[in-house]
Amino acid sequence: LGSQAIKKIEETKDLKTLNDLRVKYLGKKGPIQEVMKGMKDLSKEERPKVGQVSNKVKQDISNTIEAKREALEREEINKKLREEMIDVTLPSKKPAMGIRHPLTQVIEEIEDLFIGMGYSIAEGPEIEEDHYNFEMLNLPKNHPARDMQDSFYITDETLLRTHTSPVQARTMLEANGKGPIKVICPGKVYRRDTDDATHSHQFMQIEGLVIDEKTTMADLKGTLDIIAKKMFGENREIRLRPSFFPFTEPSVEVDVSCAKCDGDGCSMCKGTGWIEILGAGMVHPNVLKMAGFDPEKYQGFAFGIGPERIAILKYGIDDIRHFYTNDERFIKQFNTK
Ligand code: PHE
Repeated sequence: LGSQAIKKIEETKDLKTLNDLRVKYLGKKGPIQEVMKGMKDLSKEERPKVGQVSNKVKQDISNTIEAKREALEREEINKKLREEMIDVTLPSKKPAMGIRHPLTQVIEEIEDLFIGMGYSIAEGPEIEEDHYNFEMLNLPKNHPARDMQDSFYITDETLLRTHTSPVQARTMLEANGKGPIKVICPGKVYRRDTDDATHSHQFMQIEGLVIDEKTTMADLKGTLDIIAKKMFGENREIRLRPSFFPFTEPSVEVDVSCAKCDGDGCSMCKGTGWIEILGAGMVHPNVLKMAGFDPEKYQGFAFGIGPERIAILKYGIDDIRHFYTNDERFIKQFNTK
């Protein structure tokens, strides 16, 4: 019995089975206990011998179990340690990196182009005074052209700027009547529009302003031509259409040619082969005067680019709202760097 039990115990692979064996061999109903119980029926001579033998067997089994238990416990601890070991020399996981928003990418690209042409960047407040947003731009109170831009007024005198053009007035005033000025002003603008695939109550503009002593419409056209070719490709052309803005005279709307018309951007061209990307013109003499510049000495041109339109055209985006809803599936497509 003893050697059979010891063999079984030594083959045990887990603590649960070991405990079962302990109960089986050494428990109250176990074989040894059985033998002990039967001792009273034995003769005086046999009793001590049987007692000795069964005690020895009990002791041996008990010792073996104890040794086995220690071994199993040690093994378990070692296994745990092995599993939980951290290899500090392994390379770390790459954290998921954010992507620059496609609009930010377009704006930075345009900024780089203008900085390369000697422009600097100016900024103005998004909560703007009526004075700068309209009056300094040749749009006095009750001027019908104010209706061109439905505004979010905050008070009678303050509103969310409807365009980046007020930065023109602010920049000119800062220059104290002395040119040259060459700035671009990127920023958010707001209009009371109902949001849909092509309208948004908040969008971006990049204003441009150049004031110098001999500035002509040809300078404006040349500048815009460079930008269109740099942004969309050398085969692109621009087209100036007469338009009206109270702060420029003459005023134009500028289209860029849909060069190939094989991409999604083409639906934007609506079969005409051209898409409008900005408004521009020669700074109105009244605007120069109000901002302290002598219109006899200085001329200038100004333009307002719509970065959304540029991005839509460049990447074939079908809904302006994609820019503002921050769906990762949209943003992630512009992981260019
Ligand atoms: N501010 C005009 C707009 O928002 C665009 C523009 C800017 C036109 C500069 C001419 C000169 O529509």
